Amino acid sequence: MEKPVPDPRQPFVALIVGVTCMAGLSLAEALKSPKALAGPWKVYGSAFRPMPTWFPSSVLDKYIAFDATDAGDTADKLPPFSGKVTHVFWVAIQDRESEHVNVTVNATTLSNVLHVLNGGRCSRQPHHGSDRHPTLHGSREVVRTPSIIIGASSRSRYSTLLTLAVAANMGCRNRRRQEPSFGNRYAWEHFCDISDARVLAEQQIWAAVTDGAKNQAFNCTNGDFFTWKSVWKKLCDIFHLEFITFEESKNFDFVEFMTEKSRVWDEIVEKNGLYNTKLEEITCPMALKTVLHFMFQHVCSMNKSREFGFFGYAHTLKSIPLWVERLRHMKIIP
Ligand SMILES: *[C@@H]1O[C@H](CO)[C@@H](O)[C@H](O)[C@H]1NC(C)=O
Ligand SMILES: *[C@@H]1O[C@H](CO)[C@@H](O)[C@H](O)[C@H]1NC(C)=O
Ligand SMILES: *[C@@H]1O[C@H](CO)[C@@H](O)[C@H](O)[C@H]1NC(C)=O
Ligand SMILES: *[C@@H]1O[C@H](CO)[C@@H](O)[C@H](O)[C@H]1NC(C)=O
Repeated sequence: MEKPVPDPRQPFVALIVGVTCMAGLSLAEALKSPKALAGPWKVYGSAFRPMPTWFPSSVLDKYIAFDATDAGDTADKLPPFSGKVTHVFWVAIQDRESEHVNVTVNATTLSNVLHVLNGGRCSRQPHHGSDRHPTLHGSREVVRTPSIIIGASSRSRYSTLLTLAVAANMGCRNRRRQEPSFGNRYAWEHFCDISDARVLAEQQIWAAVTDGAKNQAFNCTNGDFFTWKSVWKKLCDIFHLEFITFEESKNFDFVEFMTEKSRVWDEIVEKNGLYNTKLEEITCPMALKTVLHFMFQHVCSMNKSREFGFFGYAHTLKSIPLWVERLRHMKIIP
C-alpha cells in the first residue's frame, strides 16, 4: 500500500459540498484532526444556506454559502477557490420529487461545481491526476453511501438517530414510557449495521488519499452488528423511558403518530430554547419505518476495506449515547 506523502508547504485543500449534513460535519472534523491522513488539510465547506449556529465554525477555513444547482450562483461564489481545491468531497444528497429529478439535479450541481473549480474547463467527472497541485483530484464515488448513518446535524432529514431521539422525547412527554414498538419482530431480533459518521469520514479521507483505493467501491459500516431491540434498550436508558419488550401493534402507525406531533415539537423547541427546527425537516418517520420493517439482515462486509488497509471501527451501542450528547450540546434536541 503506498502511503500518501504530505507536503507541509503545500497542504491538500478539501472542498466539502454539503458540509452541514451529518456526514459533512464529521468529515470536516476528521480533516481538521491532527491525526488526519495526509494532513494538515485546508478545509472549505459549502452548503446552500448560511451556516447554522450549532456548526463548529473553527473546523473550516472558509464557509461558502451558494446554490450549486444554479450555475450563475456557483460561478459568482466559487471562483476565489478555483485552482486551490485538490479534493472535492461530495456529501450533499438530493431529496427531490422523484429519483429521476434527484439524479439530474445531482449531475447538474456536480458539473456546475467542477466547471468552476477547473477554471471554466468542461468536466463531467472529477479528474484523477496523480500529480499534486493544482490538479483537482476529486473523490470519486469510492465509498458507497451507506443507507443508515449515525451523526449529528439539523440538516439531515434521514437521520435515524434524530428521528428516534425526537420520537423518544414525545414518548417521554406523554407517558414516560415508549410507544409500542414500531417495527416488526424480525427486525427487532435480527442483525443490522450502521455507519458512524466519524468512521465514514475517516474512510472517505483514506479512500481519497490512498492510491490503491482509487476507483474502488467500498462498503462502509462500523464493523459490528446490533439488533434494534438493543438499540431501543439503549435509548430507553438515555431518555429515562421504561423498556418494554416487543409488542406487535396493529393500531399504531409510527408515521401517523409523528405527523400529528408537529405542534408538540414546536413547543419542545420553544420551551427548551433549542435551535429552531420543524419536525418535518429533521425527521423522516417513513425512512425509519422502512428500516424497522426489513425482512432481511442489513449487514455489510467490511472485508474489502480491511484487505485494502482501512481498519476504522466504532462500537455502535457506545456511539449512540455520544451522538445523543452531541445533539443535545448542539441544542438540536433537549
Ligand atoms: C430521491 O428521490 C426519492 C423520491 O422519489 C427519494 O425517496 C429518495 O430518497 C431521494 N434521494 C436519494 C438520495 O435517492
Ligand atoms: C450523485 O453524483 C455522484 C457523482 O457523480 C454519483 O456518484 C452519485 O451516485 C449521484 N447520486 C445520485 C442520487 O444521483
Ligand atoms: C458489501 O457487503 C455485502 C454484504 O456482506 C457483500 O456481499 C459485498 O460484496 C460487499 N461489497 C464490497 C464492495 O465490499
Ligand atoms: C471475509 O474474509 C474472510 C477471510 O478472508 C472470508 O473467510 C470471508 O468469507 C469473507 N467474507 C465476505 C462476506 O466476503
